[in-house]
Amino acid sequence: MSPELRAADPEVNFRLTAHASARESSNDGGYSYRVEDVRLDPMTVDEFEARLPALANGYVAEQIRAGNWSSGDAEELANVQLHRLLPLGIATPGMHWYVARTLADEVVGYLWLATEPTDPITAVAWIYAIEVEPRYRGRGIGHRLLYAAELEAQRLGARAIALNVFGANHVARQLYDSSGYEVTSLQMRKSLG
Ligand SMILES: CC(C)(COP(=O)(O)OP(=O)(O)OC[C@H]1O[C@@H](n2cnc3c(N)ncnc32)[C@H](O)[C@@H]1OP(=O)(O)O)[C@@H](O)C(=O)NCCC(=O)NCCS
Repeated sequence: MSPELRAADPEVNFRLTAHASARESSNDGGYSYRVEDVRLDPMTVDEFEARLPALANGYVAEQIRAGNWSSGDAEELANVQLHRLLPLGIATPGMHWYVARTLADEVVGYLWLATEPTDPITAVAWIYAIEVEPRYRGRGIGHRLLYAAELEAQRLGARAIALNVFGANHVARQLYDSSGYEVTSLQMRKSLG
């Protein structure tokens, strides 16, 4: 564990620096952010390819847990959705991928932000994935990542940021609730035996 990481403090005003990144990426030039002790860099092609299977597996698990997909179909459904969203992989226009690291360069999380297709009136960016490495969870990195996502969305022209979250994901819901996100739609279900 890196000693510099502290628990989340909802009162904290994050210190932030942002600068154009020289790293190779699919993004429009690439921006890096540093939110306190976490740095967010554009993802490289190699990092993206290494990350995609874990992303698909996590999505499959969530859909099965939510009762939306059966385990038999889930993997194929996830692959179909990912191919539809990412026809050009990391180079798909409007898709922005980031890796979060400690200042000691340990990877602690990932972010997938989507700004296309976007409604020109509402200009909403979507968080398609935000994830903290399991051993770093519960220490405020989710808050730092989310804050960086909001700034990056603004830089990319968004006037609002949105996401979908599964009802049973209480930690993520707490993160969004305490960060000022409001429920805009709600899916409900009752099991009939
Ligand atoms: C959701 C996720 C990104 C949150 O990241 P994190 O670094 O653990 O979150 P933080 O430490 O910043 O904590 C966020 C909030 O959840 C609370 N929290 C964190 N872990 C918790 C736990 N195990 N139980 C209850 N609350 C918890 C924190 O106290 C904090 O509350 P606050 O907002 O009132 O201060 C992370 O848990 C994760 O990667 N989960 C798997 C992927 C996922 O579900 N992504 C979201 C998809 S919508």
